Amino acid sequence: MKKIAIFAGDGIGPEIVASARLVLDAVNTAAGLHLQCMEGAVGGAAIDRCGDPLPPESLQMALEADAVLLGAVGGPQWDALPPAQRPEQGLLRLRKGLDLYANLRPVQIFPQLLDASPLRPELVRDVDILVVRELTGDIYFGQPRGSETGPDGLRRAFNTMVYDEAEIRRIAHVGFRAAQGRRKRLCSVDKANVLETTRLWREVVTEVAREYPDVTLSHMYVDNAAMQLIRAPAQFDVLLTGNIFGDILSDEASQLTGSIGMLPSASLGEGRAMYEPIHGSAPDIAGQDKANPLATILSVAMMLRYSLGAEAWAERVERAVLRVLDSGYRTVDIASPGTHLLGTRAMGQAVVAALAQID
Ligand code: NAI
Ligand code: MG
Repeated sequence: MKKIAIFAGDGIGPEIVASARLVLDAVNTAAGLHLQCMEGAVGGAAIDRCGDPLPPESLQMALEADAVLLGAVGGPQWDALPPAQRPEQGLLRLRKGLDLYANLRPVQIFPQLLDASPLRPELVRDVDILVVRELTGDIYFGQPRGSETGPDGLRRAFNTMVYDEAEIRRIAHVGFRAAQGRRKRLCSVDKANVLETTRLWREVVTEVAREYPDVTLSHMYVDNAAMQLIRAPAQFDVLLTGNIFGDILSDEASQLTGSIGMLPSASLGEGRAMYEPIHGSAPDIAGQDKANPLATILSVAMMLRYSLGAEAWAERVERAVLRVLDSGYRTVDIASPGTHLLGTRAMGQAVVAALAQID
């Protein structure tokens, strides 16, 4: 029996997670997985309840689980809080507490959504990228950090970008191993021309590459990578990045697919894993049954694959999503003329119905 910790979070989090739960529960029953699902609070929901975005019992629940499913955290009602007390800090502490250093973000093109991409179909048709993002280091965690008013009366704020070679080496190995199972090309993103941390990044990635002679390594500055993702995105196979560059580039890459509501992610550590859509809590559409749950449903597929040893069921869920898109069902973010609009919950139900048709 495997344990799943579920943190729905804030904004659209409870809606997309409830929709994905329909799929997870259907697979659980059909596959006889005997999953034990536990629900806990992180983010704003936890702040409202006990003043802490990651209460100790939630961290404990995640540590005891075989996998974590997370919606999204954050929202304007907590904007006035200092960064260290905000909902997002609960998520950062959860990733750090589970030592989830490898964030895998597949950027897959759905042929049915080619008309939803802001880019021309011929540019995005052949896109198949895996962003491998380091998740527990970089400027999000570096010390010192803070804000202060100086003796001159001016407000100052500062964060520290820091990586050590062990952190870089372990994520580089994840990237190269992933490339070996794909088209054997890895592009490492840095800003080695101006930042010492990313100069070390480039050196260490180059060293690790010697252990993977079958993988072709290239390096790209992050500003160029941002441009190339729009100019010629099909050139990339594995894109290896630090924490902040990967955060930004993967949101950008999501637009190749048509909507940020389509992209799942897996965050992996040694024997631990968390699955979540790459988007945030979308307060602008929260509570309206409008959010696209497919990124969360595809995150459940990644959970079946990486944590539950159920590859065949992961593929079935992915095929069910394609079938639903084939049938013309769309949430509002991916809608186009002639398609059938569904709400968040109905989209989950449609995937469950499609799953039942797949042998
Ligand atoms: P966001 O990703 O929440 O939203 C950006 C835009 O994409 C919005 O217009 C939203 O409506 C749309 N969108 C996002 N997910 C969607 C979905 N599933 N279906 C349809 N449309 C969707 O990013 P934003 O607005 O910058 O941040 C909102 C809050 O979320 C902030 O508090 C932020 O800190 C937090 N956040 C949390 C993350 C997490 O929990 N992993 C990641 C990113 C942001
Ligand atoms: Mg982000």
